[in-house]
Amino acid sequence: MHWTSPESRSRALYERARQIFPGANTRQQVWMAPYPPYLVSGRGPWVTDADGNRYLDLTGNLGVLIHGHAHPLVTAAIADQIERGTCFALPTEAELKLGGLLCGRVPAFERLRFTNTGSEAVAVALRAARAFTGRSRIARIEGVYHGSDDVAAVSSSSTPANWGAEPASTARYPGMPPALLDLVRVLPANDLETTRRILTEEADSLAAILVDPVPARCGSEPLDPDYLALLREESRRHGSLLVFDEVIAFRLGFSGAQGRLGIDPDLTALGKIIGGGLPIGAIAGREDVMAVFGSEREPAQVPTSGTFTANPVSMVAGEAAMSLLDTAAFDHLEHLGEVVRNGVQEAIDACGVPAQVTGIGSLFALHPHDRPIRDYRSYHRSEHEQDIMSRLHRHLLAERVLLTPSGSGFLASVMRVDDLAPFLRALPSALESAFSDQQPPRARSRR
Ligand SMILES: Cc1ncc(COP(=O)(O)O)c(C=O)c1O
Repeated sequence: MHWTSPESRSRALYERARQIFPGANTRQQVWMAPYPPYLVSGRGPWVTDADGNRYLDLTGNLGVLIHGHAHPLVTAAIADQIERGTCFALPTEAELKLGGLLCGRVPAFERLRFTNTGSEAVAVALRAARAFTGRSRIARIEGVYHGSDDVAAVSSSSTPANWGAEPASTARYPGMPPALLDLVRVLPANDLETTRRILTEEADSLAAILVDPVPARCGSEPLDPDYLALLREESRRHGSLLVFDEVIAFRLGFSGAQGRLGIDPDLTALGKIIGGGLPIGAIAGREDVMAVFGSEREPAQVPTSGTFTANPVSMVAGEAAMSLLDTAAFDHLEHLGEVVRNGVQEAIDACGVPAQVTGIGSLFALHPHDRPIRDYRSYHRSEHEQDIMSRLHRHLLAERVLLTPSGSGFLASVMRVDDLAPFLRALPSALESAFSDQQPPRARSRR
């Protein structure tokens, strides 16, 4: 039965959710109106909903599951740890193994500390930068998503109605304290001249320049090499720290995006893939900066702790997943990325619709417009374009293909080229309908 059917299990679950959660959901980013299919299981690149329908999952839980669902080696590591206890109030060897593996891969990771989420990693990295520099302000790029920390979220909901001529510190929610907005200077991605000027104006005040080197909201492609080099240079010149948010971008290479792009940040925030499918985050970077978290001689200037931090289940899952991610796995992911981006572009060209696909490595993103994307403003979708994206998303879902509602896709090492066929087959008619329909697709009854 289709999930939109009034008799579906998903519908019944949604009715229950409405009585419990505001807006019927507890994770807004993946919610879709009027309600989504509820999932019950996943294996490899596939997930199954509460009504028994199987979908090709191109979301991998928004970039987490780089080996797909329930990879046997990751599952075995988790099961083995669960038998021996799930969390303790003392350290375990499991954290050394994952921490050691990560530091062994990335030259700039001289020291590392775990957190529970990517958002927490970003927040803690900013705190570390403040403690190290003795400054309070940060710069970040307009519109980019860095998770739920208040300061990092400034400007992440900017719209043409409030973004102004030059990127402005816009609030994430009504009532956001103006004092928080004042802590942030917003930079236009890939605009060297304006960025250099703003960084010069802020020369003595910035603790950190926070940057996702491959921001989804600038097209899921690396920022220009010259732009990244400018940020590196200016942060050194003015004594602030360059903080990379690689919560997603770490999946782009054996040494993350920084290895691929040849830039060494001072600190890096991590999350997603490094936990093998369980909650995790981490910050890593320069030994002298990381000393704000304490050293054998000095107490911590920035105390960080969490009840579940470095819990051994996340640690063993992460170690299993990261160990599987060898150079052959990255080569395969690159190949899948090429295949899918070429296939999507062919479908777009054949349909003659004003859409485009962007991305790099195992990332791809569909856009409901064909403007060249250089920054948040050129990425940003009008209401009409958002409607097209929603229809495209729903058309694909009706064909049993799961993309994120914003059109992003994340490939997994367990996918074969053939697994992508249902997506590439469904795409032309989904594109044509999305660009011509005014209505979302009708429910179809199919088992
Ligand atoms: C670039 C980036 N930074 C930070 C985060 C926040 O990570 P988490 O959802 O684990 O808090 C995300 C989450 O999607 C992200 O994409």
